[in-house]
Amino acid sequence: GGLAAVAMLAAASPAFAQDGCDDGEMVIKFSHVVAAQGHPKGEMAAALAERVNKEMDGTACMQVFPNSQLFDDDKVMEALLLGDVQLAAPSLAKFEAYTKKYRIWDFPFLFPNMTAVNTFSNSEEGEKLLHAIEDKGFIGLGYIYNGLKQFSANKPLVKPEDAKGLKFRIQTSDVAEAMIEALGANAQKLAFSEVYGALQTGVVDGQENSWSNIYTQKFFEVQDGITETNHQLLTYLAVTSTEWLDGLEPDVRDQFLSIFKEVSAEYNARAEEINEEAKQKIIDAGGTVRELTPEERQAWVDAMKPVWDQFRDDVGQDVIDAAVAAGN
Ligand code: LMR
Repeated sequence: GGLAAVAMLAAASPAFAQDGCDDGEMVIKFSHVVAAQGHPKGEMAAALAERVNKEMDGTACMQVFPNSQLFDDDKVMEALLLGDVQLAAPSLAKFEAYTKKYRIWDFPFLFPNMTAVNTFSNSEEGEKLLHAIEDKGFIGLGYIYNGLKQFSANKPLVKPEDAKGLKFRIQTSDVAEAMIEALGANAQKLAFSEVYGALQTGVVDGQENSWSNIYTQKFFEVQDGITETNHQLLTYLAVTSTEWLDGLEPDVRDQFLSIFKEVSAEYNARAEEINEEAKQKIIDAGGTVRELTPEERQAWVDAMKPVWDQFRDDVGQDVIDAAVAAGN
């Protein structure tokens, strides 16, 4: 009868009885685009799910969807607002549609190392930036680190002039676009899941990413080599919809946020090591890694760093000063 049909519908509804989730548990879906293993964000997501599923058992459960299985980084923001997923962690380069303040994270040659990134993330300015997209219905829970980025192409890159005329895949970042154009090269914005194919078929000549992305996506297999420029940061904002976070019972929210904080701190501290391992694995797999002399690297700094001037007003001098100070 009618009641049985209603009961069956309820049992089949996505809010209940999903993989690893028990009836009545709140399902937290975490969608991301990278590999589940050998990657700072992929491993952080898996560790977060493990702790939520253990410590919040009976109340909440987390399901992780890696590798753009569910959404790419463009679509995932809408999916958060629609309640199709509850947690995402796009690169800070991908928030152009929501705020120009996050452009700071893409300033080339701003952060000399991950210690500087950590100092800035935990500074007053860094904390404030977590709230920069609240007017759009989102809240940043915290930062998840990856690492500094390296250039690769289908020919050796040693001098910035070597990049001239080449087409590089970039994230949806206007700072990255300006930076590539400053090299006399062309930039093409592409979703992460399309990069390998674009490199393989020659739709683009090169790309720039962290060691862990270059290794886990096998970009090095379809490139001449990777040049260790450490020119720009790749890091993520763990983001939820404000509506979802505000709708949680206070004790549930506190428990979830405190688990998030611990796991992200643990993996942020390991991000550099994971990237170093990825670099070594590229070399072990026969990939070419080119290191630059300080003079060679300086030529890349001279070519790209002037783009800061185009974005100073978007970011604000106080934020720039804090980020620079974090590296000194
Ligand atoms: C990219 O698009 O290159 C990165 O943002 C992917 C990622 O999540 O690391």
